[in-house]
This record gives sequence, structure tokens and C-alpha cells, in this order.
Amino acid sequence: MPDIVSPATTPAPTATPATATAPDADANANAAEAAAAVSFPPGFLWGAATSAYQIEGAVREGGRTPSIWDTFSHTPGRTAGGDTGDVAVDHYHRYREDVALMARLGVNAYRFSVSWSRVQPTGRGPAVQVGLDFYRRLVDELLAAGIEPAITLYHWDLPQELEDAGGWPERETAYRFAEYARLVGEALGDRVQSWITLNEPWCSAFLGYGSGVHAPGRTDPVAALRAAHHLNLAHGLGAAALRASMPTRNRIAVSLNSSVVRALSPSPANMAAARRIDDLANGIFHGPMLHGSYPKTLLKATGSLTDWSFVRDGDLRAARASLDALGLNYYTPALVSAAEGGGRGHGADGHGASEHSPWPGADDVLFHHTPGERTEMGWSIDPTGLHELLMRYTREAPGLPLYVTENGAAYDDRPDADGRVHDPERIAYLHGHLGAVHRALADGADVRGYYLWSLMDNFEWSYGYGKRFGAVYVDYPTLTRTPKSSAHWYAEAARTHTIPPAS
Ligand code: FCB
Repeated sequence: MPDIVSPATTPAPTATPATATAPDADANANAAEAAAAVSFPPGFLWGAATSAYQIEGAVREGGRTPSIWDTFSHTPGRTAGGDTGDVAVDHYHRYREDVALMARLGVNAYRFSVSWSRVQPTGRGPAVQVGLDFYRRLVDELLAAGIEPAITLYHWDLPQELEDAGGWPERETAYRFAEYARLVGEALGDRVQSWITLNEPWCSAFLGYGSGVHAPGRTDPVAALRAAHHLNLAHGLGAAALRASMPTRNRIAVSLNSSVVRALSPSPANMAAARRIDDLANGIFHGPMLHGSYPKTLLKATGSLTDWSFVRDGDLRAARASLDALGLNYYTPALVSAAEGGGRGHGADGHGASEHSPWPGADDVLFHHTPGERTEMGWSIDPTGLHELLMRYTREAPGLPLYVTENGAAYDDRPDADGRVHDPERIAYLHGHLGAVHRALADGADVRGYYLWSLMDNFEWSYGYGKRFGAVYVDYPTLTRTPKSSAHWYAEAARTHTIPPAS
């Protein structure tokens, strides 16, 4: 077996004493206040993010073939209310209106994803011009409005044919991805400078193949680990293909949903549980992508499931593609303990209900809610986690510019009698998290931009349309877009390069 082990590359997880409640509210408030007084650096990007399947609709137009999310959402029982992305928010037809909306809101960067099966139906063969033309028109519209586009190549919508051939647990899928990356790079590399290979490969691997709450809905821990490795390989091969097909000025990044993993108490059992989750959440991707190796502790903890012989010579060299930037998607921290008596754990990890754990070799670990407020997803609100992760990236990937490529919150927003949508909770959430970003900047993190998730309400995967993450409200029957008060607040932040007061 090739040398795939690293010395300890990741820091030990931190412990939260059992008595600790949510992070010190005063400290957060003070930090946010201090941040409000200070400007963000010139050139800082005030972005918004979306993804193809969540907003585009038009699933049968222009030769597009089904992705695993079409299949999954059309399978009874897989999504809340049987919701699908068939129409979504019809962005495919309304993209001009959406770009104009962003321009009005002063958003100066937009992160969106390309639907693989729209530009390369079935995941093989030549690119389809109709599909590429849609993204060309979108990009041209953005550039004309002074909005910097950032393309995510893969935001979870694998062409179904590639899943039928084995999906991410199979090595061939990584080669297919590299080919797709080349096609998109050749077509759009002349006008888009900012590129992201994968969005949250953790979710693709562990929710898609482990707990099965995401497409394709498989529940096989070994398949999940194999998928994680092939996603690492795909990232590396995809980045190399992009580099070969685009002008050198373009930047390549990846968006990881790295986790702050805290132990419920510093007992050895809880610290060991936190270590295992840290490896499965972070080390499994940071290791190959940033250091060219897997953490030894990860291989040991999963050793009874697999010998990792699917890792071939050269894979880790390829996975450690030189990155130009690193993207962090942050929502909430993880608080864990060892299940007493080694029983079944899992629980409040915020990744949807499943009998199957998304944590191979660690399904005895218990997840807890951090005390304090939570969003409509049930996710604990804790901006200190964002600061912590930005500082961790600063240590683990010194010299690499950082972007918060997703951050935001779902709330049960409803229009008032005048049709206005007030979402003070979202403003408070953004206020706190932008404060954390500013604090990280002050502490030396090279954060270049922030992309709010999401521009507008959309299809929230297995939760369907029930969870609203948008700064813009979408009335689903009419698809009318109405900026919420948070959108106006964010516009003010973008205009002034500061954090406006939360109320
Ligand atoms: C992230 C996903 C994004 C959205 C937000 C709420 O994990 O990347 O598509 O679902 O969560």
C-alpha cells in the first residue's frame, strides 16, 4: 500500500467543559460592536451563493439529463413533502431578473454552480453548447453588472449515469470529473477568474453514501470512505485539468464544510470521540488536499472497515493540487461525547434523520446541541466557531487567501400584511458571523470575501422548500422575489464595508 499516512497534521480538538453553555454572549456582542467600528479591507467581496439544482429548475431543457438529485427527489419518501427541483425558483429562465436584483442589493460577487448534466449530459462525451451557453449568458450578465462570478463545478448533482456506473465510490468518477472540469474551464475560463472544484465533499461522501439522507441515498460506510477518497482525487485531477485549460491568472479553490469539533468535557473518552470526528470531518479532506496524506488516526479508527487499498500511488500527490485559495462553508459547530457503554450515538449532528450514521467507525459518538439559540434547521448559533476555523485554516494553510463561501441561516420567514418580509433573526445571525470574520481578519487571517447563503430561498435538499435560507423571499406559487430586511441590511454592509447595527 502506498504511503498515505501523515504525521499529526491537524490540531487536537478543543474541549468544552460540561458546564459551559453557548459561547460567551457578551464576548460575541463586544466583538461584533468593535468590528462594526472598523472597515473591511478594500476589495473585500460581499457575495451571495446558490447552487444549480437548488435554483435552476428547467430540468428537462436543452438536453439536460437527470442527476442523482432528480432521481432522489422523485423517489417517494426522500424529501419533505416530495419536493423536487423540477421548477425550483426557475432561475434558468429568470437569471436576468436575479442578476439585476443582486446589482440593486450591492452584492459584488456571486457564487453559483454548474449543472454537470446540463453541460455534459450523462457525464461523458462532448459538451453541449446549449448548456454552456446558459452559463455564458449568466456570466456575461454578471460581468456587465459589475458582479464577480465564482463557479463551483460540483455542488452534489452527479449525472445519474455515473452513479449507475458506481458513483463516487468508484475511481472512474474522479476521471470523469476531471474531463468535465476541462470542458467547463475551456468554455468559461476566459471570463471567470474564480473557480471552486467541489462543494462540501463531506456531504457528497457521508450524507450521500453513509447516512443516505442525500442523493444517491446509499448507506454503506465503506462506500462513503471510498467516495471521500475519490472526491479528493477528483479535486486534484479537476484542479489540474482546469489549470491546463484556463488562463494562469484564474484562481482555483475548494469549498469545505470543515467543522469545529468540541468535546462535551475533557474526559479522555470524550476527547478521543472528538478526535475521531475531527478526522472524519476535517482531516479526511484537509489531509490530502493541504498536506498530501491522510491522518494516521483516521486510518486507525476506520481500520476495521477498510484497509484503504483503494488509495493508489500518486493519488495523494494529485489530491494536493496547488490551491490558490480556500473556501469555508460554516453554519454551526459540533459538540460531541463518547456514548456511555459504547452504545449507538449519532443524534443531534444536524444532518437529517437516518438510522445510519454518516460517521464511519464512529457511530458510537453522540452529538449534542450547543446550548443557546438555534436556527430553523435546529443548528446552534455560534459565531466563535467561524473565527476558530478561519484561524485554523490560517495555521494549516499559511499563505492561502481564505473565503467564507457559505454562511447563513434558515428562519420561518413570512410576508406581513404589506408584503414585506422582516427577518431580524437573520440580521442578528449575519451580524454575529460577520463580526467573527472581522475578528479573524484582525487576528491575521487573510479573508478576502464572504458569500451569504443564500441569495434567495430555494430547494433545501431533503428538507425541500420548507427551509428558507434566502436574503430574498420567494413566493413559490408565483415565484415572485421580495428582498427581506436582511437583504437591505446586507446591502448596507456591502455599501459601507462595515457591519451595520443589528437593529
Ligand atoms: C450547505 C450546502 C448548501 C445549503 C446549505 C444550507 O451544506 O452547501 O447547498 O444546503 O448547506
